[in-house]
Amino acid sequence: MYKQELTVIVQSIIASNTVDEHVKSAKELSDFYSKISSVEHSVSNETLVKGGIALSSSGAADCVDDYLRTVFFIKGIYKALTQLCNHFPERSVNILYAGCGPYATLILPLLPLFDKSRINALLLDINAASIASVRNLLSVTGLDEYQLQLIETDATTYTKPNDFTIDLAISETMHYALTSEPQVAITQNIVSQLPPHGILIPEEITIDLAYTFFDHEPALKNAKQEVKGHKQMQPYPHHVFVDRLFTINKELFSSIIHNSKIESKFYDLPANFENHPDICIFTKIKIFNNIELKTAESYITNPYCVVSLYSINDYSGIQLMYDFSEIPKWSYNLKN
Ligand SMILES: C[S@@+](CC[C@H](N)C(=O)[O-])C[C@H]1O[C@@H](n2cnc3c(N)ncnc32)[C@H](O)[C@@H]1O
Repeated sequence: MYKQELTVIVQSIIASNTVDEHVKSAKELSDFYSKISSVEHSVSNETLVKGGIALSSSGAADCVDDYLRTVFFIKGIYKALTQLCNHFPERSVNILYAGCGPYATLILPLLPLFDKSRINALLLDINAASIASVRNLLSVTGLDEYQLQLIETDATTYTKPNDFTIDLAISETMHYALTSEPQVAITQNIVSQLPPHGILIPEEITIDLAYTFFDHEPALKNAKQEVKGHKQMQPYPHHVFVDRLFTINKELFSSIIHNSKIESKFYDLPANFENHPDICIFTKIKIFNNIELKTAESYITNPYCVVSLYSINDYSGIQLMYDFSEIPKWSYNLKN
């Protein structure tokens, strides 16, 4: 019964075309999870790993309510899975899902759309309560007939079994501007185990530098009440794009990142900055193909202010540094 209900919900997510439809279908998914979950999610079981903070099981459960994030990831993963199933008609598709949370939100709803012989997945989370919750949900929904292994482990160091070739790797373990959570450390580890044909989701996370007025930039403050698509938002008119600092994708780790730091070059600071006094980081996510999350469409693509030009106005240049060796953070160097 639950499987049928979930099938209807996920089909409406995939068919959704407008922001209202996205929100409606994601709410249905959120309500469905609340209805079938029997465990109380803890707010106090956050875990610190090298590379960032893993959310508590309650924090991870709440991610389902970042509506456009949930809908666009599910749409992108559906597309990628369909492509892989067509590409490998004779065998199951191998999925590594790093950071599944208590709901396995980005894969569990899609299972009823695929025959159980086509899916073979490893679901990882460092949080024992989240793993226990997914086990319970699989059993309640009857989806435990699929080939799924639940593994309590640190995805920044996990090594896949030798006989498991990853066709699709999924991880959404990020906060805006790639601060706080271990998305980059996890991606670095997974990419090192991904074969050339393997799909990484998200395919790209782009990080841009801009001079702007932070308070006037669109930002998502309450995803349950005020979701807007990027076309409905007023961009701040005096926003000055400075440069693309980097893009997290399959290729990055074989080129510019050799340790856990990324440094930009020095950029000239504007002499006149009345209309754009803040140095900010903007995040965009290409989930798969043409499915993207743009600025302020979700919490994870909200802008982030590194520093105000008013506090550094005696300098002529700035260099930005991103460091994910511990809890990921931004810092800067100044030049006279
Ligand atoms: C932002 S939540 C997302 C949950 C779910 N995938 C979703 O999209 O709704 C991130 C999840 O990744 C897990 N996580 C974070 N860092 C991890 C790590 N190093 N190893 C394994 N799991 C991790 C957290 O425990 C949390 O459950």
